[in-house]
Amino acid sequence: MSNHTFAVYGASGFQGILVLAELARRNLTPVLVGRDAGKLKAAAAQAGMPDADLRVATLDDHTALVAAFQDADVVINCAGPFTSTGDRVIAAALAAGSHYTDTCGEQPFLQHVYETYPAAAESAGVTIVPAATDGGIPGDLLAHLLGERLGPLAELTSIHRFGGETAMSRGSLRTMLGIADAMTDGGLAYLDNAWRPGPFDPPAPVTLPGAAEPVAVAPFPLQEPVSVPRHVSVRTVRGMVEDSTRALFATPLTNEMIESLPVGPNDAQRAAGTWTIVLDAVAESGRRARGVISGPDTYGTTARTAVEAAARLATTPASAGVLAPAQAFDPADFLAALAPFGVHWTIEDH
Ligand SMILES: NC(=O)c1ccc[n+]([C@@H]2O[C@H](COP(=O)([O-])OP(=O)(O)OC[C@H]3O[C@@H](n4cnc5c(N)ncnc54)[C@H](OP(=O)(O)O)[C@@H]3O)[C@@H](O)[C@H]2O)c1
Repeated sequence: MSNHTFAVYGASGFQGILVLAELARRNLTPVLVGRDAGKLKAAAAQAGMPDADLRVATLDDHTALVAAFQDADVVINCAGPFTSTGDRVIAAALAAGSHYTDTCGEQPFLQHVYETYPAAAESAGVTIVPAATDGGIPGDLLAHLLGERLGPLAELTSIHRFGGETAMSRGSLRTMLGIADAMTDGGLAYLDNAWRPGPFDPPAPVTLPGAAEPVAVAPFPLQEPVSVPRHVSVRTVRGMVEDSTRALFATPLTNEMIESLPVGPNDAQRAAGTWTIVLDAVAESGRRARGVISGPDTYGTTARTAVEAAARLATTPASAGVLAPAQAFDPADFLAALAPFGVHWTIEDH
């Protein structure tokens, strides 16, 4: 077991338990933190670590949260929706001097973290890398490799696709409910060197890998428009999903409907699920390239990605501040670490 300690806040959630299991698989030391002692105990048992260190701390109790994180090298925050919980966990991580990462998929909160915490993180000597998920890290790292290949970019379009049943956890559905406005108007895009909120003009259809015909796509609040301009020379970054995916995500849901669903996808649904990120880049020179990265099981990939990010923050610290994935980690090396899980990427002239 390494001598580093990883505090998981929201350890009792669907994603939190997968993160615990990944820490156990890598023989890394977890501390389970959350608001409910009974749920933490059950989570430890489910993740195969019945003797793990459990610490109860509610979000309202800053002192208890800081104490819970005090000896943690890194806090991995899995307690979404982050728009309502994230600030208090970050404040405690900063006070405890622990590096911070999370499983946030909320574009508005991601932008908030990049804008709010750089000075506090620098003075605390802490590195914050938000959104260490299947949606937040692979596309950001691949965009950096595209930028290295093509030079300054005029335009980058990221399209996230999901295969299989796209079964989501209750936590993901609750989170999506909280950012319904951003999902309706497309969220933020980076247009001509500035972040701008939607609504946007409908984009042109795109011919996706393996397809003969172009399909309709829609603006969507993805992570790349927020993170990529922080490390790639690029004038415009847009996020999209296929129209059919946006329609699926736009299905009206109530809290009552969400609570009646299973806590998350079962093992068979997870095994059947896939994710793909297509990055179409146009260089200032006019050269074009397409990067494609894909993998299985969004929640399993997120557990791998969040723990890989946390382990790197613990062992090879990056500079203090709020960093995009490609600022904190070597892109090709990080992606190579995900390959045994089935994450593969290509970049081709287009
Ligand atoms: N690609 C992506 O964008 C991506 C991928 C994976 C996950 N995620 C995000 O990860 C988050 C977690 O998902 P999940 O499926 O694990 O959700 P979940 O099963 O509902 O778990 C949420 C966890 O957060 C805790 N929590 C929530 N509100 C809290 C509060 N006010 N105070 C203290 N603890 C609180 C819960 O504690 P209790 O158990 O005590 O209720 C639970 O441990 C979601 O926001 C999801 O969108 C994003």
